[in-house]
Amino acid sequence: MDVVIKNGILVNADGKTEMDIGIEAEKIVALGKNLSGRKTIDANGKYLIPGGIDVHTHLETVFGGNQTADDFLSGHLGAIAGGTTSHINFCFPNPGQSLHATLANWQQKVRSKSLIDYGFHLVIREESHLEELPMLLEKGVSSIKCFLAYKDTLQIDEELFFKTVEKAKEHGLLTMVHAENGNIIDYLIKKALANQLISPIFHARTRPPELESQSIHFAASVASMLNAPLYIVHVSSIKGLEEIRRAKERGTDLWAETCPQYLFFTEADLERKGHTPGLEHFEGAKWICSPPLRKQEDQMALWEGLRLGLIDVVSTDHCSFHFSSQKTRGLSDFSKIPNGVPGIEERMALLFHYGCNQRNLPMERFVSLTAEIPAFLFGLEGQKGRLAEGYDADIVLWNPNKRQILSVDSHHIQLDYNLYEGFTIEGGAEMVMLRGKIIYANGQFSVEQGNGKYLFRSSYKHSLNHDAKS
Ligand code: URP
Ligand code: ZN
Ligand code: ZN
Repeated sequence: MDVVIKNGILVNADGKTEMDIGIEAEKIVALGKNLSGRKTIDANGKYLIPGGIDVHTHLETVFGGNQTADDFLSGHLGAIAGGTTSHINFCFPNPGQSLHATLANWQQKVRSKSLIDYGFHLVIREESHLEELPMLLEKGVSSIKCFLAYKDTLQIDEELFFKTVEKAKEHGLLTMVHAENGNIIDYLIKKALANQLISPIFHARTRPPELESQSIHFAASVASMLNAPLYIVHVSSIKGLEEIRRAKERGTDLWAETCPQYLFFTEADLERKGHTPGLEHFEGAKWICSPPLRKQEDQMALWEGLRLGLIDVVSTDHCSFHFSSQKTRGLSDFSKIPNGVPGIEERMALLFHYGCNQRNLPMERFVSLTAEIPAFLFGLEGQKGRLAEGYDADIVLWNPNKRQILSVDSHHIQLDYNLYEGFTIEGGAEMVMLRGKIIYANGQFSVEQGNGKYLFRSSYKHSLNHDAKS
């Protein structure tokens, strides 16, 4: 064997055990005791976990007319430092653009910059896209996304959503949905602005949780009617979670994701006072994302949802915009503040420290939420998300005692602020291996641009039994 990692505690979603890992070329070829290879890595006192998979990212994207601060290169640097080795980015067609041309365009953007493995979800914007769904699996795309919010830009109507879920099911694709009622949000925004309510907090006040839960209810009902799978992105509220619970109890093939920002912040953060001269009252813009941040009780319910298996995935919705030059576009109109927050670098550490260390979230569940279920849902089973023979050797040597203070001064993404500034974390990635190659160790990167491989993903597999993967 090329490499053997010894003495670590190997963690998969279904258990942890002390075991050596044998690696040859890009794959895990053996798990056992007393393995030997040409090179040995000592993982004493460390966990060995599958490389993180972040299935909700917006790198190198123009969103709402604003170019994200992170491109594929800076996003991948952050991902690696945080223990993430694969991600799936959203591809947005321009109006009138085919899915085929969109995918080709995004492949081109990422190819020369990639450091980690990447896949794409395609966003459905218009009726003509439905004709292309039958071809997506041939291109390695097994998931699509619909927006029920962002009126007059990305939002599609109920009929197109229904037809999309129907056809996606027919062709083995998983539909993802941003569930908020965009029509009523649009009305509430106009009303707020007409009343000179312009500051960041009104972003939250014009997107109440009822408009999330009502939209989740609608989307889940469509999935249930069609007996089709559905994945709800970035669930933020108790009310939303209630709809998820009901749909799951009814037996709908429904999956739910939340993101770190909803676990750590509340709408009160939108009213923070900062220290940037002239922008003191505007600090909250850093926390603007959709759905918005909610209340403490929502946060608590989301943590409980992670523990109970109501929430299946923690991804990031990483969509970064600089504070000083981009968020400020909404200084006199909250609706013009670019929507989105970072997280690709911090996701694993935050969930480990505040979940495993502080809330007794089992390590197995941590792995399930960050790697194994994402791999299962998005067509990477047998390849990623698990430390087992035949799988890619995407391995993170996780040091539970690594102390980090999250800061804009030390992060690797390209952003002029860190949402988690000053958070102190016990635990982090000490060494990161992607397909058998060490790409990061002790704070140093050893990876070249173009290293990432396109994730050719297979068809969504219906799972009637959520418990099998929870
Ligand atoms: O505010 C957010 N979430 N921005 C990214 C786009 C989306 O809605 O996922
Ligand atoms: Zn969204
Ligand atoms: Zn998103």
